[in-house]
Amino acid sequence: MAGTPLIAGNWKMHLTRAESVELARAVAAASTGLTDREVMIAPAFLSLAAVKEVVADSPVRVAAQNVAWEKQGAFTGEISPPMLQDIGVDMVILGHSERRHVFGEDDAMVNRRLTGTLQFGLSPILCIGETLEEREQEKTFTVIEEQLRQGLKDVQSDQMKQVVVAYEPVWAIGTGRTATKEQAQEVHAFIRTALADLYEKTLADAVRILYGGSVKPENIDSLMAQPDVDGALVGGAALQAESFARIINFT
Ligand code: PGA
Repeated sequence: MAGTPLIAGNWKMHLTRAESVELARAVAAASTGLTDREVMIAPAFLSLAAVKEVVADSPVRVAAQNVAWEKQGAFTGEISPPMLQDIGVDMVILGHSERRHVFGEDDAMVNRRLTGTLQFGLSPILCIGETLEEREQEKTFTVIEEQLRQGLKDVQSDQMKQVVVAYEPVWAIGTGRTATKEQAQEVHAFIRTALADLYEKTLADAVRILYGGSVKPENIDSLMAQPDVDGALVGGAALQAESFARIINFT
């Protein structure tokens, strides 16, 4: 286990502002007094400020679901790192499989967003993961290694301390088909070795690697028991206070 375990909720394109505030309140309540784990939620852009305000007195961290790399400029439809910092948001999910596969973001763009993010001092969660086809063709490790290498291009060792990696097999996202704890551990261990090759072992041992893809109250405990699983990135099950509270309180 590297660092403090991180349980992160990705709300995707769900919830109105009022619904977001209500859920954030419940997450803050469920996180009261937890010191041995970190909790993060990523609402839609429009709810970020309101959610940030609601959890201000709690340990809950708030993240955006994407961010551009420049301070400002002609980037229609984008949000800049300083805009997030202006409302107190200091984390951002990058390279989520939906950004890659629905919106066509490639490794080069994810890398651009990631290096920009780091320059402004925000902490990125870099999402990587293979498709079902790639897994069946036994390309999982090649794909993962390439996404890491390209996604982390030009990222210096001292900046890596701020980076979290999330392994999210595309075939497990929103499908109810969770990777087994053995499958998760196998790829997490591979990621750590790849990070040690790219940087060095001590640093790789300190990087938090989250698992994502149909994480639920029923499987969180066994996933978190794996030596290289340092947290979870939760989609569907993060949208209900009760299930997310159970996930936060994994044992
Ligand atoms: P899921 O989504 O938990 O609904 O599978 C995970 C994610 O996309 O981060």
